[in-house]
Amino acid sequence: MPQRILVLLAHPAHRRSRANAALRDAAAATDGVTLHDLYEAYPDFLIDVDHEQALLLRHDVVVFQHPVYWYSSPAILKEWQDLVLEHGFAYGRAGTALAGKGLLSAVTAGGSETSYGPDGLNQHSIGEFLRPFEATARLCRMRWLPPFILHGTHLLDGAGLARHGARYRALLERLRDAPAAAHPEHRPHAAGGL
Ligand SMILES: Cc1cc2nc3c(=O)[nH]c(=O)nc-3n(C[C@H](O)[C@H](O)[C@H](O)COP(=O)(O)O)c2cc1C
Repeated sequence: MPQRILVLLAHPAHRRSRANAALRDAAAATDGVTLHDLYEAYPDFLIDVDHEQALLLRHDVVVFQHPVYWYSSPAILKEWQDLVLEHGFAYGRAGTALAGKGLLSAVTAGGSETSYGPDGLNQHSIGEFLRPFEATARLCRMRWLPPFILHGTHLLDGAGLARHGARYRALLERLRDAPAAAHPEHRPHAAGGL
């Protein structure tokens, strides 16, 4: 059974996007991927929580795709998390709706990879800046997948954008075709385990 992938795209200015536009086109061209553009769906930020939760239930892997803005995401993705990841749905004793689903951050950054090294301007890697998303995945009993990162967007020409689009599409296809992950709550306990 192919894994159903939900890409939540958060970019506030489509017309000015190059990197996320290339990634969005790659996702849209991939069978088995539902592309959901949050700024397009909710220009007034009035997120339909029931609709979003229903969408989550119908997918196995959730992708947060966005540019890195101020070392985090554009605002609508935070609003989405604040409202959609409700207690009793996403976390808490009875909140197991997302358990076992994958969470992938797919981000683009203006800064180069070197600028995100220990001696660079930003000092910490993108992976470190993504910690709040990783912790959120853990709290929701989701599987945190190794992030897709596109550094140095300002220096990319058309060929570079196409190359990264193909890399993103290949990753989405791998996730789609991977065997279903065992639901953590249904995983048999190892003999002698807790
Ligand atoms: C409001 C704003 C904040 C940004 N903050 C960062 C940042 O913290 N780190 C970084 O590397 N780039 C930052 N950038 C650059 C964007 O990440 C970059 O322009 C974007 O990833 C390019 O993707 P796009 O062509 O889809 O817009 C910022 C850009 C804007 C407009």
